[in-house]
Amino acid sequence: MAFINDHYLKLKAGYLFPEIGRRVNKFCEENPNAPVIKLGIGDVTEPLPAAIREAMHAAIDEMGDAGSFRGYGPEQGYGFLREAIAKNDFQSRGVDISADEIFVSDGSKCDTGNILDIFGANNKVAVTDPVYPVYVDTNVMTGRTGAADESGRYAGLTYLPVTAENNFVAPLPESPVDLIYLCYPNNPTGTVATKETLKQWVDYARANGSIILFDAAYEAFITDPEIPHSIYEIEGAKEVAIEFRSFSKNAGFTGTRCAFTVVPKQLKGTTASGEPAEIHPLWNRRHCTKFNGVSYIIQKGAEAVYSEQGREQIQGLISFYLENARLLREGLESVGISVYGGVNAPYVWLKTPGESTSWEFFDELLQKAHLVGTPGSGFGASGEGYFRLSAFNTRDNINEAVTRFQKVVS
Ligand code: MLT
Repeated sequence: MAFINDHYLKLKAGYLFPEIGRRVNKFCEENPNAPVIKLGIGDVTEPLPAAIREAMHAAIDEMGDAGSFRGYGPEQGYGFLREAIAKNDFQSRGVDISADEIFVSDGSKCDTGNILDIFGANNKVAVTDPVYPVYVDTNVMTGRTGAADESGRYAGLTYLPVTAENNFVAPLPESPVDLIYLCYPNNPTGTVATKETLKQWVDYARANGSIILFDAAYEAFITDPEIPHSIYEIEGAKEVAIEFRSFSKNAGFTGTRCAFTVVPKQLKGTTASGEPAEIHPLWNRRHCTKFNGVSYIIQKGAEAVYSEQGREQIQGLISFYLENARLLREGLESVGISVYGGVNAPYVWLKTPGESTSWEFFDELLQKAHLVGTPGSGFGASGEGYFRLSAFNTRDNINEAVTRFQKVVS
């Protein structure tokens, strides 16, 4: 008899984005001529910058020559990319992270899920609410929760509400937690954490022996010079935090796949018998056992993100999407919608107008304006009454979306 992992049966229906896709496909089948604009999933639309493509082309040519062909690469990533990341993303900001603390991977979604492999099943886990659903679902899959209640909250998880009422600043947990997921700039709310807020979390983790799982996939969108890009900008964070970064949103790698995770050597957890244990060798062991590295071609493309031309070109992409976010924000505000985020992030988070629930508003927007967004409740119970629009789209689609949105709510 082959027993299944029963924890999967606790998962609510489908993963959020496929569920949206299902509803949109049904609508499109019934309305084949409707000009649907999708601002749901945060997937980039602009092409890979030239500097990245050129580096990939050159890498393909190397792979076609017996003298420079490469087979398996180092599981943790090639030295050239790990060095470039450490230097440009951390050391240049005064953060002492070294290349061997960087683990190159095929995505932050995978890494934030996979990281649970190296942590005990009995950890108390805290997430913000609303939250990127991967953090919650992977905890359910690995048996760290009980069943979901009617609002979709799983027993055993600690939910920290982030709403307009608390200015989207997560309160510290009332009872101690061991693993804390934080995502800044935040998906889905598009809000950011100040140095003071992050310091509170680092202090909390140090005082409680907790570990912070810090998802900084959207850090490149930070425009405010006072906002930290990395949790390691906070003193003591290297002892208590793992950071996840991605090339998906800043450099257009959603389809190409390249990301990295930072595991500082100082970071320690605790064994079942209460001894301190280093996290870095555990993640290294996990990574080498279950992963064979990102392709050389893709890593050469990622390295080019840090070249002079690469930097300029990706800055162009980031500015483009941030301008989209501004157009969405201001266009919605002009018709009286309460809007959050979208300044240091590619997501705009809004209050659903009137009494509509998030899913009701989703259906209304789809039916009346042929616009797709993401219902706030899909990110958690505290997201009810909110709605997310992604700024990842063409300028024409963003302008058209604003016009249609305004018509629906005016
Ligand atoms: C989102 O829309 O929240 C993102 O696309 C999710 C992701 O990057 O996996």
